[in-house]
Amino acid sequence: MTSKKSSGQAAAAPPTIAPATGKLGVMVVGMGAVATTLIAGVEAVRRGFAKPIGSMTQMGTVRLGKRTDNQAPLIKDFVPLAKLDDVVFTGWDIYDENMYQAAKTAAVLERDHLDQIRPFLESIQPMPAVFSQHYVKRLNGNHVKTGRSKCDLAQQVRNDIQAFKAKTDRQVMIWCGSTEIFLEPAACHQSIEAFEKGLLADDPAIAPSQIYAYAALMERIPFANGAPNLTVDIPALQELSKKTGAPICGKDFKTGQTLIKTVLAPAFKARMLGVAGWYSTNILGNRDGEVLDDPESFKTKEESKLGVLDFILQPELYPELYGDIYHKVRINYYPPRGDNKEGWDNIDIFGWLGYPMQIKVDFLCRDSILAAPLALDLVLFLDLASRTPELKHRGIQEWLSFFFKSPMTAEGLYPEHDLFIQSMKLKNTLRHIKGEDLITHLGLEYYD
Ligand SMILES: NC(=O)c1ccc[n+]([C@@H]2O[C@H](COP(=O)([O-])OP(=O)(O)OC[C@H]3O[C@@H](n4cnc5c(N)ncnc54)[C@H](O)[C@@H]3O)[C@@H](O)[C@H]2O)c1
Repeated sequence: MTSKKSSGQAAAAPPTIAPATGKLGVMVVGMGAVATTLIAGVEAVRRGFAKPIGSMTQMGTVRLGKRTDNQAPLIKDFVPLAKLDDVVFTGWDIYDENMYQAAKTAAVLERDHLDQIRPFLESIQPMPAVFSQHYVKRLNGNHVKTGRSKCDLAQQVRNDIQAFKAKTDRQVMIWCGSTEIFLEPAACHQSIEAFEKGLLADDPAIAPSQIYAYAALMERIPFANGAPNLTVDIPALQELSKKTGAPICGKDFKTGQTLIKTVLAPAFKARMLGVAGWYSTNILGNRDGEVLDDPESFKTKEESKLGVLDFILQPELYPELYGDIYHKVRINYYPPRGDNKEGWDNIDIFGWLGYPMQIKVDFLCRDSILAAPLALDLVLFLDLASRTPELKHRGIQEWLSFFFKSPMTAEGLYPEHDLFIQSMKLKNTLRHIKGEDLITHLGLEYYD
């Protein structure tokens, strides 16, 4: 898609983005609820059984030029994204169920929906995983690799990737696996060299998710992190990403409660309304809920969910409004609900002269129905980034913050959590890589 430039100064022509020719291989780590909902959903859309609702790459538009120009192409026509027909899936899991069985276990999509595409789903079988129960206490699968060291396991994942490279033209890896225990950056995370030594020495600070990520980046494959795990949020893998030109992004899909939180909190701040307390609780009964029932995995998720308000409300700038918030996040495993999570928020706000008010939000959501389109958008946008000279060697793709609860940023930079700033950042990045004018929303030109 080319557009006529209509306003302002023409931006310098950017280097050309390589076209999305051939097959895009999507390698999914962890083939549970989100992964099967993604894979079954893409096939259902390809076969014309359903619409890709919730996906920005499939349904979103981007405005170009002035409001009076009436130019708003579909994003997928504006930038060269892989077509759904060209997407091929593979992946790893600690259980050896094929995608039909795994989707039945996850119980997100209805049996009728799955049966329409049963042979396709049955044709995808996970490869044995790199796994240790030390990092996910509540799971115990036996479809796992064994090796002499973590270095050997990384090599085995690289062998899997190389075999998939022979069948596809470009590849992307996305973590849809479980939430690992809470880990903080350690000495072996500080440089590529230290990390490689750590792999050889079986350093316990290196989690399975980091072994996959390392293997992907070594193979020049972009990596997205859908969980709150530390994974690529360490100097060693960020350095490797820049070096090999394999973009990275994370962490933790922004789907239900946090999506709503990052819409409401900016509204309170924009109106200078105070917040005294925000109590968020969830009940969910899927395998993710079971994993998060373990305090060590919950801690990883809690950190990811708690950061949001501080960054959005900026209590250091507005101490009278946000200096004394009581913020609590709870996740309760409640099997009867399955994947249909209930996210409940009580928000105590205050207005003019300090008068208190309350807001209650009860979001009866479907976790993986919200997450699957994000996973799709992430793999398509990361593949785009790896073909875009402007983005390829920059490591962290901050413009993809829109999809994450806990967006990764360059060292020393605070993350942008406000959903609408994130959306503007994403669309301006697309305009930028295509040499279009950025949209500032100044609008004075309409009143000349
Ligand atoms: N569903 C959502 O809305 C949502 C939102 C934000 C984040 N997440 C995160 O996404 C991840 C996936 O969620 P889900 O609902 O699909 O969970 P799930 O439990 O259904 O699926 C995760 C899968 O990962 C597998 N796994 C665990 N460790 C692995 C390893 N080392 N290698 C390969 N496979 C491994 C498990 O066996 C399981 O099948 C979780 O970390 C979750 O916290 C989900």
